Amino acid sequence: MKKNKVYIETYGCQMNVADSELVMSILLDKGYELTKNLKEANVVLLNTCSVRDNAEQRIYGRLGNIKSVKSGEPNVVVGILGCMAERLRENLIEKNKIVNLVVGPDEYRNLPEYLDEAFSGGKGIGVRLSRTETYDDIIPYREGGLSAWISVMRGCDKFCTYCVVPYTRGRERSRTLFSVVNEVKTLSRRGFREVTLLGQNVNSYKDKENDFADLLAAVARVDRKMRIRFTTSHPQDLSDKLLYTIAENSNVCNYIHLPVQSGSDRILELMNRTYTIEHYLKLIERARKIIPGVSFSTDIIAGFPTETEEDHLATLDVLKTVRYDGAFMFKYSPREGTKAYKMNDDVPEDVKGRRLKEIIDLQQKISFEKNQELLGGEEVVLVEGESRKSSEYFAGRTDTNKVTIFPASDSYKTGDYIKVKINRATSATLFGDVVEKISPDFFEIQKTA
Ligand code: SAH
Ligand code: SF4
Ligand code: F3S
Repeated sequence: MKKNKVYIETYGCQMNVADSELVMSILLDKGYELTKNLKEANVVLLNTCSVRDNAEQRIYGRLGNIKSVKSGEPNVVVGILGCMAERLRENLIEKNKIVNLVVGPDEYRNLPEYLDEAFSGGKGIGVRLSRTETYDDIIPYREGGLSAWISVMRGCDKFCTYCVVPYTRGRERSRTLFSVVNEVKTLSRRGFREVTLLGQNVNSYKDKENDFADLLAAVARVDRKMRIRFTTSHPQDLSDKLLYTIAENSNVCNYIHLPVQSGSDRILELMNRTYTIEHYLKLIERARKIIPGVSFSTDIIAGFPTETEEDHLATLDVLKTVRYDGAFMFKYSPREGTKAYKMNDDVPEDVKGRRLKEIIDLQQKISFEKNQELLGGEEVVLVEGESRKSSEYFAGRTDTNKVTIFPASDSYKTGDYIKVKINRATSATLFGDVVEKISPDFFEIQKTA
């Protein structure tokens, strides 16, 4: 029998990247084959994001392209997975004639059955959310590589008023520490050099008596040559225990993504973020004391309902006070079904745009200045491979997650750790020369020193 060929595109956050790996694993197990060529696929899957309206518009645009390639072909399934599937359900099929499969994030285990339904001329619709599904027993399909994303929990119980995620991903639930550690062991044996533990709010991780700090420590112990990252932390729940765990494990990167969203307490309250700026800044201060050299990134929303010029200036103030290494910055986008959707989206589009631009400009200036401070110093970089622009240069990342470019050479290769002396920097990239290759025991030595 001719095997079905699956083509999958992934949008949105790293959770979706991890979920696509689960989906590939589930389908391979049922005899499907994977293809990177849309033309030869007879199963086309888009793993989608609903977080802002423009994320959804992109998918509609893409569906238009796919329609022009695939319409008229017999025996083709076009499916929407992920957050849009969960949010829009059968409406997606009604409005987009090309779509005949809609499967949400907690139903991937049943995807083969839904595909069968779609292939036999029906509609494959699976959008139930689950309180328990963690796919703990499924080993995600990963091509070889250096970095892996591991979902350690699913869902979110925070209900920030602007956010659709608790509705598209359901309630919070954690995987077992045992299975996460086993997955990391496998990745280590396969030569992966970096893992990022994922959750919408990793600080809520819980497996019996183990919290996220325990999980992080257990993962860090697996292979000290492996760098460990994690995202996202919520400012209300980030514990001192976690800060000490980062400090004590030299292979846990000194980098915390800590979304602040706004600098105004009034707006934070309307957002249901459950912390004040005072609390947030104290947390940053504590983290800097406990983890010398720690770097921070953040998320900002510009133009939340009722945001005044004063609120906006308070956000700029937080950027100036914290001096983040980087930020992800967005215009507020009303999402149906959320609490904020009922508020009046009263900040005019041009004001939102101008505020966002001011935030981006300020952050760029700060990122640039912070990177200039690194000139002349040395950074430990994990070699990722040829740089995007030229084969004469390699690219890698520092512990603090900064892309670093340095001359290519035969004396180091992908997966090696090297020391780079920084001699030039933009707001987004460091450039330098290699000082030396670092012994594989580097992290071990650093820890006991
Ligand atoms: N759980 C993570 C990721 C959530 S989505 C967290 O809490 O950080 C990533 C970011 O998208 C959020 O931090 C927020 O800044 C932004 N975002 C979420 N909903 C949004 C909306 N309706 N409009 C604009 N930005 C939004
Ligand atoms: Fe959304 Fe807030 Fe949950 Fe993050 S913590 S996913 S912003 S509800
Ligand atoms: Fe988007 Fe869903 Fe992630 S809405 S940001 S893909 S959790």
